[in-house]
Amino acid sequence: MEIIHKHFNTIDSTNNWAKKNAHEFDVKKMTLITADMQSAGRGRFNRTWVSPPHQNIYASFCFAIDKQRKDIGNLPQIMAISTALTLEKLEFKPKLKWPNDVLLDGKKVAGILSETTPFEDILWMIIGIGVNVNMPKELLQQIDRPAASLFSESHKEWDVDSVLTLLQEQFNKDLSLFLKDGFPSFLESYKVRMAHQKGDKIRFHDNMAIREGFFQEINDDGTLSLLLADSELKTFVSGEILF
Ligand code: BTN
Repeated sequence: MEIIHKHFNTIDSTNNWAKKNAHEFDVKKMTLITADMQSAGRGRFNRTWVSPPHQNIYASFCFAIDKQRKDIGNLPQIMAISTALTLEKLEFKPKLKWPNDVLLDGKKVAGILSETTPFEDILWMIIGIGVNVNMPKELLQQIDRPAASLFSESHKEWDVDSVLTLLQEQFNKDLSLFLKDGFPSFLESYKVRMAHQKGDKIRFHDNMAIREGFFQEINDDGTLSLLLADSELKTFVSGEILF
């Protein structure tokens, strides 16, 4: 898909801007909104996404999607795979924490916030991604959960724009395949990069409560099966595995 790129020095949140302006985007193209910094970067579960200037990638990939598709919920997982493949090109060994966190050495290096906004007959998909590129250790330590950057893991600085270029090429390619063949084409790629294996004891947050259980598997549709402490086998479509 052809990409139209719009860059801001400062913005509240690339996802917010995309949501407000999606009705003006070209339905046949992907619109990529990026910024050097965000004053109100948002994460999942209403968290803040720490977004200092010139250190990281803050990007929202926006495109029109067929409303009838049942697998829209897999798109953030596709972006997580694209991010992992991009980092592998740079010689990192990323892992995926269900559903779509990207980890380096057990710490989060990239997060994805996927949102939709309907306009007339169109459903706009907004896949927001933050990748910590050159964020220094002192700042990462201020984040309330384990966080990494490419810099903290490799002890060298990276060119933010070059990493973004690789990511947008990878995602564009992966998105075409996903739109054609769906999540099954990515299942294996997702599974081999998972941070958790069958039987791992985990704590899980399902929007309502924190539960304890054992990781079972990622199902063909990308959902997560857990064996809960009371021996109930339960499948989740959303939530997060806690650190
Ligand atoms: C998460 O909680 O893991 C998701 C983090 C998503 C952050 C990105 S940065 C670009 C885009 N704009 C936002 O406000 N959030 C997303």
